[in-house]
Amino acid sequence: MKITVIGEELKNNDALEQFSIDVLTGLCSKPKMLPAKYFYDDIGSKIFQKITSHNDYYPTRSEFNILKDICSKLPKVLTDEEIDIIELGVGDGHKSKLVIDGFKDAGTKVNFYPIDISREAMNLLKENIKEDDQLSIEAIVSEYFQGLKYVREHSKNKKLILFLGSNVGNFNIVQVQGFLRRLWLTLGKEDHVLIGFDLKKDINKLLSAYNDSDGLTRDFNLNLLTRINRELGGNFDLDKFQHFGTYNPSLGAMESYLVSLEDQDIKIDELERSFHFKPYEAIHLEYSFKYIENDIDFLSEKTGFEVIKNYYDENKYFTDSLWKVLK
Ligand SMILES: C[S@@+](CC[C@H](N)C(=O)[O-])C[C@H]1O[C@@H](n2cnc3c(N)ncnc32)[C@H](O)[C@@H]1O
Repeated sequence: MKITVIGEELKNNDALEQFSIDVLTGLCSKPKMLPAKYFYDDIGSKIFQKITSHNDYYPTRSEFNILKDICSKLPKVLTDEEIDIIELGVGDGHKSKLVIDGFKDAGTKVNFYPIDISREAMNLLKENIKEDDQLSIEAIVSEYFQGLKYVREHSKNKKLILFLGSNVGNFNIVQVQGFLRRLWLTLGKEDHVLIGFDLKKDINKLLSAYNDSDGLTRDFNLNLLTRINRELGGNFDLDKFQHFGTYNPSLGAMESYLVSLEDQDIKIDELERSFHFKPYEAIHLEYSFKYIENDIDFLSEKTGFEVIKNYYDENKYFTDSLWKVLK
């Protein structure tokens, strides 16, 4: 499996500078916040992999069952002899494998381009998916659209974009339309996308998924403070912050916070300054927006796609929605 890191020679310095700017901006904001994309350093990607197989975390299990069910149906919609499957934010790829195998079983040659900001995600992926005569893999370590731009220059076949695991839920209603329209711009007529949407459901089910009984989500969120300590010379004491995951019914979103348990100053050497936390002051980390079917129709219409079909798991906790590009 070939791994391409976009801008490799500049990557370390550039990425660190961007991280420090985002941390500075986030901790100066009111309320304080940190961008969720920084969860996925090597340790974060490994903790996330554990979360996905935890009993309380229904999304991965639900989506896995959907994909197991539809993997033989997708090749009946995309009938070309060779296709390019491009996945945004691939993670460990264990769900991608179902889709890829579905096409291979139907005799289709697949060129797989997984894109992920996390290098560790590609190491995990390498364990799950192997190249053969019917499957070539070029993994791209980059942000979503940098990776897509690179793939566009190499890809010659019809494309199926995978955006699984409710990554789309991290965007608010304005951001998601911008993201999907930008995606539309990179695609051609007859290309398809398969997007995972986590659905609105019993609030207790949501709460236990984002506050799992083994504290994996807590560790995952706190790891962002460890990353700031390691990469930017911070002095966060993890015992002085509490993970808090809650559902905001007005927004229709799960929200994650880290709450300061006391009055404290956090010094970050790289930023040459300290940040004051009042007792119980929060850092907002993540939104995970939940959907109903109407929202999906609205989004696809607004951004230039046609919904071919929504595929559900048996509990209707999750849907993978197959869209066709309209041009
Ligand atoms: C919630 S995990 C989902 C992984 C996988 N799609 C799944 O369904 O299990 C999000 C993944 O997207 C990646 N990611 C997050 N923001 C990204 C960005 N802006 N560009 C590229 N990858 C990103 C993370 O590194 C992580 O592997």
